[in-house]
Amino acid sequence: MSQEHFGMKIAVYPGSFDPVTNGHLDIIRRSAKVFDKLIVAVLNNTSKNPLFTVEERTELLQKVTSDLPNVEIDSFRDLLINYMKDKNAHLIVRGLRAVSDFEYELQMASTNQKLDENIETFFMTSTPMYSYLSSSIVKEVARFHGPVGDLVPVEVEKALHRKYART
Ligand code: PNS
Repeated sequence: MSQEHFGMKIAVYPGSFDPVTNGHLDIIRRSAKVFDKLIVAVLNNTSKNPLFTVEERTELLQKVTSDLPNVEIDSFRDLLINYMKDKNAHLIVRGLRAVSDFEYELQMASTNQKLDENIETFFMTSTPMYSYLSSSIVKEVARFHGPVGDLVPVEVEKALHRKYART
């Protein structure tokens, strides 16, 4: 029997997390208070050419969420809804930063609901101080050795320094 039959609300927060930022962490911390269990699921997509491997991304997520007992870090391939079925989860969490996020998010949420009518997507608005923040912006700054200490957790800052020191 699935955990949901016992009234557990399991939510999945899917994303690339390449790497996790303070904005992601804000959504993780806040949604972990709303749901009984939150699975942060890193997309293992070979076509996207990420900076960090899936192992590196999940390891960083594990480090920065180690104080949150109901948060689990995992990865998935292919379709999110198939992964959700495996996990007996029906709830998706996504962060919304600005209007510019909305169109893409609406498209994804609608597609996921079309593929599986039991799937519900919950949007959490980002804390305003993080509304400009993205993994791409962080990588851009770090690539040119700019300061990212206010944008990402310290473990991620160190990992970025290591990545860009070599190249
Ligand atoms: O952090 P991102 O890159 O905005 O996250 C996007 C993600 C991983 C949530 C999305 O690309 C995804 O779910 N991909 C898996 C493929 C899938 O299920 N697509 C159908 C929904 S359109």
